[in-house]
Amino acid sequence: MTARTNRQWILTARPQGDAFEDCLAWREQPVPEPGPDQVLVRTIYLSMDPSNRIWMQQASYIPAVPLGEPMWGVILGEVVESRNPRFRPGDLVTGMGAWADYCLSDGKGLGPVPRIPGLPLQAFTGVLGPTGLTAYFGLYDIGRPQPGETVVVTAAAGAVGSMVGQFAKLRGCRAVGICGSDEKARWLVEELGFDAALNYRGGPAELRRGLKAACPSGIDVYFENVGGWISEVAYGFLNLRARIPLCGLISQYNAAEPQPGPRNMDILLVRRCRMEGFIVLDYMDRAGEMLREVGPWLADGRLKWKVDVDHGLETAPRSLRKLFSGGNTGKLVVQVGEEPAA
Ligand SMILES: NC(=O)c1ccc[n+]([C@@H]2O[C@H](COP(=O)([O-])OP(=O)(O)OC[C@H]3O[C@@H](n4cnc5c(N)ncnc54)[C@H](OP(=O)(O)O)[C@@H]3O)[C@@H](O)[C@H]2O)c1
Repeated sequence: MTARTNRQWILTARPQGDAFEDCLAWREQPVPEPGPDQVLVRTIYLSMDPSNRIWMQQASYIPAVPLGEPMWGVILGEVVESRNPRFRPGDLVTGMGAWADYCLSDGKGLGPVPRIPGLPLQAFTGVLGPTGLTAYFGLYDIGRPQPGETVVVTAAAGAVGSMVGQFAKLRGCRAVGICGSDEKARWLVEELGFDAALNYRGGPAELRRGLKAACPSGIDVYFENVGGWISEVAYGFLNLRARIPLCGLISQYNAAEPQPGPRNMDILLVRRCRMEGFIVLDYMDRAGEMLREVGPWLADGRLKWKVDVDHGLETAPRSLRKLFSGGNTGKLVVQVGEEPAA
């Protein structure tokens, strides 16, 4: 092995509140050698996900990242050495990796990334990656929207939200997005074809007025990405037997203490609403199902997608912060290494 350097972000403490960047330290080590059945993967793209923040703090649907170890993240990378018969050097793969230039994997949970002429590799970090699966199955399987119904989605200009609204339109629904700036709202309506988009920064009363105008027939599917006071306002518009796919609660992830839920949960009772949490990992084996329907939408441009790229592994903690300040539009990734020639 040549003396290549592996730059990494190490988790040094459990964040208690907002300042998660203080819990990450830069370390440089020699690139490791793969052991039996292992592969060495060079990171090209590192996915920035709100769940990174959860994994830093506590066990959830996966264990917490161990202290003193490289931070975990979903990566798209290239196999550079392999002692695993399933992989060869040069293979492009995606799965759980590390905030590092290189990581070792036993291959479990590592899937192939195909090269499709005309389709940028970045598509596999978002629309054809976990983001797309989350939006597709969260909306269609759990939200079960019917043509003519109204779908409202929060964090609408983000990775998942921007897909949810478009998937709603593609099933003949009215799509309304809630997001954090007028510029994002314009993007959703003018570029992605949402019927309406509302900036929540004006506070509860303004959002209530906006939803009243944007959802004249009430809300049939409320795709939950955020939680907190925005949900409380939206619940007021839920129709009888409305569905709430509970995808995420990003407004809570940096809270030092558990936050009280919306105060008007009685609406869910009286209007017989159904809320169901889900985790994208449960849908990994149904990716083919999604690809069959979404592939043609991508090919003919009916489904649009945007990847927001930060450059350099050193930017990763600052980049993650953008998810909590609203600094991203579409799927946020850090480009760590160069794409190989096609
Ligand atoms: N269940 C699953 O398996 C699964 C999988 C992937 C993602 N998720 C969840 O889906 C949600 C979206 O994730 P993503 O990866 O697509 O991220 P994203 O939407 O691309 O980025 C997060 C966005 O959330 C908004 N936001 C942040 N703090 C907020 C707050 N306090 N109030 C309102 N909006 C806030 C920001 O946009 P604004 O400018 O609009 O504020 C930000 O751009 C997250 O809750 C995440 O945990 C769940």
